[in-house]
Amino acid sequence: MSTIARDIPRLVTPAEIKCELDRWVIGQEKAKKAIAIAAYSHLKRTRARAMGTPLPIRKSNVLLIGPTGCGKTHIARTLAKLLEVPFAIADATEYTEAGYYGKDVEVMIGELLLSSELDTARTERGIIFVDEVDKIARRSHGANTGAGSRDIGGEGVQQSLLKLLEGRQVFVPTNVSQHWSKHDFVPVDTTDILFICAGTFSDLHLYASATRPLGFGPASSTRKSPEITEKDLLRYGMLAEFLGRLPVRVQMGALNTGELLDVLTKPPDSILKEYVELLRLDGVTLRCDPSGPQAIVDLAMRRETGARGMRAVLEDVLQETLFAGPALAGQTVVMDQEFVESQFKPS
Ligand SMILES: Nc1ncnc2c1ncn2[C@@H]1O[C@H](COP(=O)(O)OP(=O)(O)OP(=O)(O)O)[C@@H](O)[C@H]1O
Ligand SMILES: [Mg+2]
Repeated sequence: MSTIARDIPRLVTPAEIKCELDRWVIGQEKAKKAIAIAAYSHLKRTRARAMGTPLPIRKSNVLLIGPTGCGKTHIARTLAKLLEVPFAIADATEYTEAGYYGKDVEVMIGELLLSSELDTARTERGIIFVDEVDKIARRSHGANTGAGSRDIGGEGVQQSLLKLLEGRQVFVPTNVSQHWSKHDFVPVDTTDILFICAGTFSDLHLYASATRPLGFGPASSTRKSPEITEKDLLRYGMLAEFLGRLPVRVQMGALNTGELLDVLTKPPDSILKEYVELLRLDGVTLRCDPSGPQAIVDLAMRRETGARGMRAVLEDVLQETLFAGPALAGQTVVMDQEFVESQFKPS
């Protein structure tokens, strides 16, 4: 029974996946729903193949678009954890098209293979999160402002990714150091590997038509960003073939004050709980007055880096306490508004 359970993925419903995501990911309802559906189809496909009856359904790779610190990486990481499938994170900017110095895209499958302990069957139903895909946009054409005559390799990387996204047998280096011999390659079929790509597209407004401010950059002063269309992404420099292989497209918004407060305090692995635990190991009790976390959120909001800003603020506010560490053993530190504001030293 246990070997079957390991070889054939357990099927959980989209509602169950969403419910579990809700525990860890605050807000982002649309994204959580879309991810839950994509994950469900992924399980159905991989399960059918494991049982020897592959389904003729094309996979639904995902493109997440949203500002920094809104939870793109977090949602993908959480999903992989709860589906119990191998997961690898790749940074699109580290890859080059074949023949250039840098990593070939096959290396990302190699990393997935490593995270599944070289078990090819498990690798073939894993999830790869490709971050920063906006940085591999084609840049032969300039932006409206003349910006972006930057890069030659981006388009090539998109081209190389096509075959992985689509599903192809590739020969994957098991030794990611790039000192390969011909025995270091194993064939992996990427047909059932789910790709979740993400990017901020923060300078999208530079490439949009002049009448329509877009994206999350300086041009968008309101919090609710207008919908980003396929046309905008093409104009930005994403290839039509690339976008075509990412049929599930989700735009995520910046987190608001209330959501940031929840991110700080609610998830089982929340940033605040992390620091409470860190200090507990030194015998220090960190007690939070409700005004403390609120003050942190207020300071973080000014940075406009979403949940990322909160870690920076918290690190700053607790610096002296963390430094004193064991010397404070047995004491209780009360984190209220006054404490936060007195300890915060913006750099
Ligand atoms: N919606 C959210 N719910 C819970 N925690 C979140 C959420 N968004 C962000 N976080 C927390 O903030 C951290 C940073 O977020 P994350 O890495 O997902 O940002 P991102 O959207 O990938 O940003 P970037 O574009 O800069 O990579 C996460 O590790 C997580 O702890
Ligand atoms: Mg990220």
